[in-house]
Amino acid sequence: MKNIEIVSVGKYVPKKKLTNADLEKIVETSDEWIVTRTGIKERRIAGEHEKTSHLAIEAAKEALHNAKLAASKIELIIVATTSPDSNFPSVACLVQKAISAKQAVAFDISAACSGYVYAMSVAHQFLLTGMYKNALVIAADQLTTMIDWQDRGTCVLFGDGAGACILACGKRKGILSEHLESFGEFGELMKVITPETRHPSKPKHSSGELPYIRMRGPELFKIAVNSMADCVEQALKKAKIKISDVACVVPHQANDRIISGVARKLKIPKEKFFINIEKYGNMSAASAAVALYEAIEVERIRKGDYVILVAFGAGLVSGAMVLKW
Ligand code: ACO
Repeated sequence: MKNIEIVSVGKYVPKKKLTNADLEKIVETSDEWIVTRTGIKERRIAGEHEKTSHLAIEAAKEALHNAKLAASKIELIIVATTSPDSNFPSVACLVQKAISAKQAVAFDISAACSGYVYAMSVAHQFLLTGMYKNALVIAADQLTTMIDWQDRGTCVLFGDGAGACILACGKRKGILSEHLESFGEFGELMKVITPETRHPSKPKHSSGELPYIRMRGPELFKIAVNSMADCVEQALKKAKIKISDVACVVPHQANDRIISGVARKLKIPKEKFFINIEKYGNMSAASAAVALYEAIEVERIRKGDYVILVAFGAGLVSGAMVLKW
């Protein structure tokens, strides 16, 4: 069996910060409510002309730079996003063009907040079969463009950002296992309401409204805790690793209380989890990618460590991956 490792990582977050104090001026909320219910203090918001592809391109450039790899050598580009610039071209093709990765095959995948784990898992399979030698995997989202800024139940939660990694065959152990789960039957719990569908029988498009996110938070909360914990347990079983051997768990950052719930369910101290939700909120697919980047940056992950990446998102979809660093 080949070893597929993370050769390098990259990240990009927009400069503009939106603090809880800023949100207090937009909806009836408070810093105290947001911090105690979610752990979020501020989030980043992309500039007016900064699309998801811009975030993805910057994260990709850093991952390439850190790998000392020319873009022309990249064979596969997968972007996990549910907020592409437009339906097509894909964000992956926009990245391919921007970095001149001419020999790469490029496509997007949609798995909401679990996108990074899903995209890494898809790339992993391509590399294991030998179809491609390396992959640039990017998670980029700008859910703030889909927010109903009058809905205090959702507008305080999300931020924009991107994370990336280069995967390739290596000598170290790399990805040891992955476990993915999907629950289409719960799709109604979090969805994007799209404007009235265009149809030849209705040539005039009436609403003109942007699509916006609707979420049944408390119901999602319970499923998130259970399915993230289950994915971790299943992935550990496949890797034949005990939870006590794991040095760091890098979770999707939807809510600090969800992370506490997963820690309790797995019977491990919360200190094992890397958490940066206070700075960014929920960046959808990018959350786990940026968290992994920062966990490495501050040396919460060191050579030889067992690491778990775990996520949960709309769909509903969840997944976990066991890595040997
Ligand atoms: N400020 C102040 N009060 C608020 C706010 C706010 N921003 N938002 C809601 N409230 C109020 C509600 O109106 C409610 O008031 P009421 O009791 O008078 O009716 C009260 O606070 C409690 O509301 P709940 O929704 O029950 O609050 P909860 O503790 O469940 O927290 C939250 C809400 C943060 C959304 C939580 O349920 C959660 O994190 N859910 C999971 C989210 C998630 O995992 N999403 C999926 C991933 S994202 C993706 O895939 C893209």
